[in-house]
Amino acid sequence: MLAAGLVTELLLACVSILVLLSIWQQWKDRSKMPPGPPPLPFIGNLLHLDPRQMSDSLIKMSRKYGPVFTMHLGPRPVVVLCGYQAVKEALVDQGEEFSGRGEQALFNWLFKDFGVIFSQGERAKQLRSFSITTLRDFSVGKRGIEERIQEEAQFLIESLRDTKGAPIDPSFFLSRAVSNVISSIVFGDRFDYEDEQFLSLLQMISRGFQFIASPIGQLFDSYHCVMKYLPGPQHQAMKQLQGLEQFIAEKVRENQRTLDPNSPRNFIDSFLIKMQEEKNNPNTEFFLKNLVTTALNLFFAGTEAISTTLRYGFLLLMKYPEVEAKVHEEIGRIIGRNRPPRLEDRAQMPYTEAVIHEIQRFSDIIPMSIAHCVMKDTKFRGYLIPKGTEVFPMLGSVLRDPQFFSAPKAFDPGHFLDAKGQFKKSDAFMAFSVGKRYCFGEKLARTELFLFLTTILQNFHFKPLPRTADIDISPKIVGFATIPHNYDISFLPR
Ligand code: HEM
Repeated sequence: MLAAGLVTELLLACVSILVLLSIWQQWKDRSKMPPGPPPLPFIGNLLHLDPRQMSDSLIKMSRKYGPVFTMHLGPRPVVVLCGYQAVKEALVDQGEEFSGRGEQALFNWLFKDFGVIFSQGERAKQLRSFSITTLRDFSVGKRGIEERIQEEAQFLIESLRDTKGAPIDPSFFLSRAVSNVISSIVFGDRFDYEDEQFLSLLQMISRGFQFIASPIGQLFDSYHCVMKYLPGPQHQAMKQLQGLEQFIAEKVRENQRTLDPNSPRNFIDSFLIKMQEEKNNPNTEFFLKNLVTTALNLFFAGTEAISTTLRYGFLLLMKYPEVEAKVHEEIGRIIGRNRPPRLEDRAQMPYTEAVIHEIQRFSDIIPMSIAHCVMKDTKFRGYLIPKGTEVFPMLGSVLRDPQFFSAPKAFDPGHFLDAKGQFKKSDAFMAFSVGKRYCFGEKLARTELFLFLTTILQNFHFKPLPRTADIDISPKIVGFATIPHNYDISFLPR
């Protein structure tokens, strides 16, 4: 009896020592992490953050703790990188270590770590490489993507003409056109603008995007383990994603029924063929869950970021009619009125190119990038960041880095022009991020921004408002995404 009691006590003592050692080890590891505000149990640094202005409150914190610091989202430590130098050193110079994907609570809730955007390691590499090649395959050729965008831009012009200059909210006009481009690649066809199902998909995407940008979306990112079980808008947002998932799963079933392995019609077909080719590979990443989630990732990313940028852009052009006038002048001089804009015109249109870059810089649509994480214990600027720690590259702080932009808070296309009025690149233009996980939709996005914007301005001007001073160009919400205030605009034929 006595011996048994002694053994139990000894075991308990050993377990306690092990627990204490592990806590000490964790504390020792953490003590080598970048400095930051002391966290409180469970709530972390919530009191230091404003969930309505997440990105700004993190950038403000960097004034006290430096460009690389640690803060706690609830119990999770996150390393925050501010300014061009810190982001470049991590994502480019130590790209492999920083190539992991951090959490996005809403997407992870439904899709876990499947699909190209939210996976990491081998899965991310394979899905990324396949997606890049397949997007390229469907973007070149006889009916290349440029022609597809030009055609869609004409549909958009018709729908804007039909408004007869009445004030309209441009949101769905823009998202329908933009979404039809990525739809042609992923599903093989465009939707009719009046198609009820299409409109409801666009609603789902827009509501999902608004949720992850909202203060409650930011709180959900930190406290999802509790909020999943409480009532609130997170359940509505989840339903939006489920609706999108069901739609895509149905499209995949349709494609499976009609697949010709020798003649892929779209991204989904190509993925199904790859699944066939790899069916005997036990470690394949080409299976149904990855197909549905990747197709959804592309559809979502390819719709909302571009249409929100255009919507922000038109608001800025209404605020600064002198910029709109200069773009009109350049379009008139280089393209004229008798043919649609072509991508090759871009090289001769430095002012328009600078305006598009400045719209992207100013609107800062994805201000904190998509969270990264480190793939292994990583030495960085003398600190040690333990494997799996999340990292926020603050792209907004790079886009407003005063070392690169003379008036970072102002809208000024001059940020991208040299003394001779020629387009001037900037290394700090990181709207699409950099490194191993940079946005591979960049080329498509830049093509769409140029062709949609120039085609619209070739055909319309915006009704001058009596007081441009009343136009509010500050964002309505800044969270995971930046969203401009809602506004009405009149497209008047030129
Ligand atoms: C103005 C438009 C766009 C902006 C500002 C934008 C921005 C971004 C940013 C900041 C990231 C995070 C990169 C990182 O984690 O380091 C990203 C990732 C991504 N974007 Fe875009 N994007 C845009 C358009 C598109 C389009 C049109 C597509 C569709 C082809 C797309 C597909 C993706 C994908 C698949 C990823 C994840 C890449 C990965 O995880 O490896 N994006 N984007």
